[in-house]
Amino acid sequence: MQDVLVGIRTYLVENNLEECEEQVSEIRRAFPEARLLLVNCGLDPTKRMTASVDEAITYSPRPTGLGEPTKMILDYAREKGFKELVVIDGDQQHYAEEIARLAREERGRADAVVPERKKRFLFARGRLDGKTIEDLMNAFLRSGVKGGTTIPDLTPGAYVIYQPSKLHGKNLTAENSWVGDLLLVQEMLEKKMKIASPRIGVRPNVYAISSENLVFKAIEQMERFYAAKLDEIASKVKENPYDYLYGGNLGLIDDVLDAYRDYQYKKKIVKMKALVLAGGKGTRFKPFTNTIQKQVFPLANKPLLHFIMEKIARTGITEVGVIVGPNKDQIRDCLKDGSNWNLNVTYIEQDNPAGLAHAVLCAKQFLGESPFLMYLGDNLLHEDVTNFLLDFLNSKAAASIMLARVKEPQKFGIAELDENGRIKRLLEKPKNPPTNLAIIGVYAFHNEVFNAISRIKPSARGELEITDAIQKLLEAGRPVDYRVISDWWEDTGNSASMLDANARLLDELKDAGSDAHEKQVDATSVVKGRVSLGAGAAIRNGSTVIGPAAIGENCIIDGSFIGPYTTLGNNNKVSSSQITYSLTLDNVVLENAKQLVFSIIGKNSRVTGTGKHEENAVLMIGDDTQIKMT
Ligand code: DAU
Repeated sequence: MQDVLVGIRTYLVENNLEECEEQVSEIRRAFPEARLLLVNCGLDPTKRMTASVDEAITYSPRPTGLGEPTKMILDYAREKGFKELVVIDGDQQHYAEEIARLAREERGRADAVVPERKKRFLFARGRLDGKTIEDLMNAFLRSGVKGGTTIPDLTPGAYVIYQPSKLHGKNLTAENSWVGDLLLVQEMLEKKMKIASPRIGVRPNVYAISSENLVFKAIEQMERFYAAKLDEIASKVKENPYDYLYGGNLGLIDDVLDAYRDYQYKKKIVKMKALVLAGGKGTRFKPFTNTIQKQVFPLANKPLLHFIMEKIARTGITEVGVIVGPNKDQIRDCLKDGSNWNLNVTYIEQDNPAGLAHAVLCAKQFLGESPFLMYLGDNLLHEDVTNFLLDFLNSKAAASIMLARVKEPQKFGIAELDENGRIKRLLEKPKNPPTNLAIIGVYAFHNEVFNAISRIKPSARGELEITDAIQKLLEAGRPVDYRVISDWWEDTGNSASMLDANARLLDELKDAGSDAHEKQVDATSVVKGRVSLGAGAAIRNGSTVIGPAAIGENCIIDGSFIGPYTTLGNNNKVSSSQITYSLTLDNVVLENAKQLVFSIIGKNSRVTGTGKHEENAVLMIGDDTQIKMT
């Protein structure tokens, strides 16, 4: 019977097979008499590995945390009565020779050996690159919480346990890789085992790559395990870095704290819901809203609501309620079940557009207790809204709004601030606005907004105004937060703002590169600047297209000028015409139509001119319309 069991726990993937083969044979050389047990997840062990070990167990195709293999190895050692157990992580940060030497030297002097290595960075991708997460783990272990530990600088990953039977069964299985180690350490401490932790040298640059989320999950586990918060640990560490971190390497501990805080708030954002308001009649955007619901109107050849869905998806929210009114089918066709954005869309009917606060009431059941993001379906903004939500969740505010400085404040909800810069009062479309700070269509609320809504009356325009509900929160002494946006924002209420929003979006087009359009542009035509050309589009017979511009699929541009900031829908036929800072929908025909500017042409419409116009023509034409310019 062999006396020593060496359990190697590893996760085998394509690119570490060779390294692991090396390690296993190194372990074989260092422990010639021992029984070698390889316990792995991921791929099956290679022939070279199985030749070096006595037994190999593949327990899962995916990693399930170090707890599971540790438990398997411990149980194996206890059941079979091994006198000594060595547990080694399957990566090349562990020197088998050194561990064998430590096991020999400490035999009879200690109950367990935890080799203390000089440095073992665990690098995470992204922002945590280069930070010593495992140093932080040491700080947890040594900070005195939960009794702390007598081990001066414990870095788990390798253990020698004499008489493993001293360790009673403990369910080490856990979803997180560090938990197995933590529980093993706890078990050793609880059993009051005498733990030696001699130093062994490790190459300074050895590191393992992990994802940021995995690292943060580990910190959460540690917080639970040690009943202490990372913040507390960090302040202890800062008082005396040399006692806690290898070489006093405080490194970027504040960055780790910030990143961890963000991670935690993002997890909270995931629990938020979003409410998109896509009801209402859109009377200010007639004639187009006679046939098309404003929120699905295409800008830069993409329905407005798609931009909003993209923005919501980026925050991490997944549950989205969409308020729909008279043209609900158009909205449903446009968003379907939301799976295009990995969102889950629930449609909520609002039988009459009785105001933004009324729309929120309609969604009461859908929203439940969740804090939520409310997004007006006709608003476009450049800024990402994630930080806005993070700040909101991080604050004690009952609601948060986004503000922008505007030229015509009487057309918007307006915020008035006090001398400390806090929101004092909100007014919906006041005749004499006290400031030019307009409320834009993105709000964050806690559930208490429902109570505020129950206390408001319809406004002069007969609507339950969300602005009034937020004012009620203020009157009840509840703080309302805000963020003034610095980037662009468009409330696409009317034609002019639709064209401006279209221009903003076209401005975001990337340069397609000089050869991109070669096949679609004939030798007599020119395409300059950032232009997107749909499949099957052709630019010919002395045409000029100047970007930023978007030309839809199968458009034929013949002897024409398409100016900057113009979007043409699909299947347009444009001949001997000029169009600038304008937008057309699908199947539009322009013939000899000169100097069209600031125009919107609905689908299936035809504009025919004489070609002799010298002056600019501004056309606002709905669907299925024929216009002759004489
Ligand atoms: O765009 C920002 C402005 O939006 C804010 O400054 C105002 O404080 C706020 O009241 C709102 O004013 P509007 O008059 O522009 O809201 P509008 O009627 O255009 O509605 C905004 C969106 O909500 C639009 O996509 C239609 C939808 N809606 C509107 C009402 C009244 C609904 O789904 N249901 C409704 O009952």
